[in-house]
Amino acid sequence: MSQLKKIYDNNIAWAKRIKKHRPTFFSDLSKQQTPEYLWIGCSDSRVVAEQLVGLQPGELFVHRNIANVVVPTDLNCLSVIQYAVEVLKVKHIIVCGHYGCGGVQASMQSTEHGLIDNWLCHIKRVHQNNEEELLAISDSTDRLNRLCELNVIEQVKNICHTTVVQRAWRNKSPVTVHGCIYTLETGILKDLNVRFSEMKQMNEIYQLRMAKKDIYKPTLTVMESDYEGR
Ligand code: CO
Repeated sequence: MSQLKKIYDNNIAWAKRIKKHRPTFFSDLSKQQTPEYLWIGCSDSRVVAEQLVGLQPGELFVHRNIANVVVPTDLNCLSVIQYAVEVLKVKHIIVCGHYGCGGVQASMQSTEHGLIDNWLCHIKRVHQNNEEELLAISDSTDRLNRLCELNVIEQVKNICHTTVVQRAWRNKSPVTVHGCIYTLETGILKDLNVRFSEMKQMNEIYQLRMAKKDIYKPTLTVMESDYEGR
């Protein structure tokens, strides 16, 4: 018997349940996906993206990693953002953190955890940048939860600074980046009231203008001409 019997059985029951209510659900969905939202959340098994916002398969494009971090050199996350914005044309990117995040908590410790400490360094920087505010909070849980919020806000900005979002805004594509945070104990999502939808909301140093030759759109002709005369 498969060690994953429960998983396969659940899957059959799930598919049957959906087909019963909507017989063409899977065949319709197999043709295309048109999600309006990109969700970037924590890998934590308790923060179930689609379910907690009541969306159906096909409605939410999802990327999750430990502590919902967006690093400008993370090709995995960047590729997700690019595909979501440029191909799927999502209108909203949502960074969702959660209170009591284990990744954020680990970032506040000086104990070595191994490889993951390199990843958590990005959150340590958020801590460092907000040290005065954080150290003024005496309760350790409150301090952790504030860093969870600050981490979301930082990652929202990081998304806005990517070339993908900058290009989208330059091309007048309606993309808004939002930040919110989930409470495990109540199941409630809180809007952190941080949202950006246009270039001018960014610090000037991050406002990327179009170069004379758009280096992000190399064509075969350009590449060939580069080699002429060599
Ligand atoms: Co987490």
